Amino acid sequence: MRINAKTKICMAIGDPIEHSLSPQMHNAGYEKLGIDSEYVYVACKVGVENIADFIKGVRAMQIRGVSCTIPHKMEVMKYLDEIDEVAKKIGAVNTIVNDDGVLKGCNTDLLGVDIPLEKMASLKNKKVALLGAGGAARAVAYTVTQRGARLVVYNRTIEKAEELAKEFGGEARSLEAVKEVKDMDIIINATSIGLDPNENQTPLAKELITNKHIVFDIIYVPYETRLLKEAKQQGARIIHGMEMLLHQGIAQFKLFTGYDGPEETMRNVLIEHLEQKEN
Ligand code: ATR
Repeated sequence: MRINAKTKICMAIGDPIEHSLSPQMHNAGYEKLGIDSEYVYVACKVGVENIADFIKGVRAMQIRGVSCTIPHKMEVMKYLDEIDEVAKKIGAVNTIVNDDGVLKGCNTDLLGVDIPLEKMASLKNKKVALLGAGGAARAVAYTVTQRGARLVVYNRTIEKAEELAKEFGGEARSLEAVKEVKDMDIIINATSIGLDPNENQTPLAKELITNKHIVFDIIYVPYETRLLKEAKQQGARIIHGMEMLLHQGIAQFKLFTGYDGPEETMRNVLIEHLEQKEN
């Protein structure tokens, strides 16, 4: 333990927060780079009713950086001094950086979507089927349209798909029309279908997936969802939700410390903990 009186505090807040793997991911990175006396990362359960007091605490204690998760990503915005353009457009802040008392809100979720996808294929002119139109789907819709993909949003509640498609540019369909995905290049699940403990569920019949598809499920518990398992069986290329968690975290690591997060170390820690959860 190398924590001392000069160590800067970074933290995750949410409600619930107990399941968060961000402390393990960030602290493993600090250790790997030998900066674990300079930074420590913890997590705190903060209810929405306490968010204003929490922000006062960030200022008072000079907390260096905060990762925000459910239900704070929108609510927290009104207490910050600056919000960057990307976070404004997505309408959510997942990262707060405290620069000498000035609290800046940013959104690194888009990098969590962008980096794993662009590693596999350029998004330009690709046909992307986005399943879901909730909070998580917004960062996906923003990223893929920014990269020049053609977006079709499928959602149970068609009105929400229409709103999202109108805002970011794209088409909207009901989830029942999802048979059309046969003609798409990339399928991204941003619904909660298949999330632990409903891991027997899948948003898409296996037969609709082919070996031409890239399938990205942003759910990371379980580590490999039924959708991803079946996509693999169909010969599709797959991206685990853990990659989104990892890359949004690496971007936060850079914002908090100025250092590039050690990707392999941080990925291994996540996989180790996610696999433990399954056993
Ligand atoms: P998140 O912040 O994780 O995106 P959310 O905003 O509640 O959470 O969105 C959940 C998404 O999963 C929505 O698109 C939701 O569809 P509706 O807009 O119709 O509610 C989708 N979803 C959740 N459970 C579903 C189910 N059983 N069948 C179909 N869609 C479902």
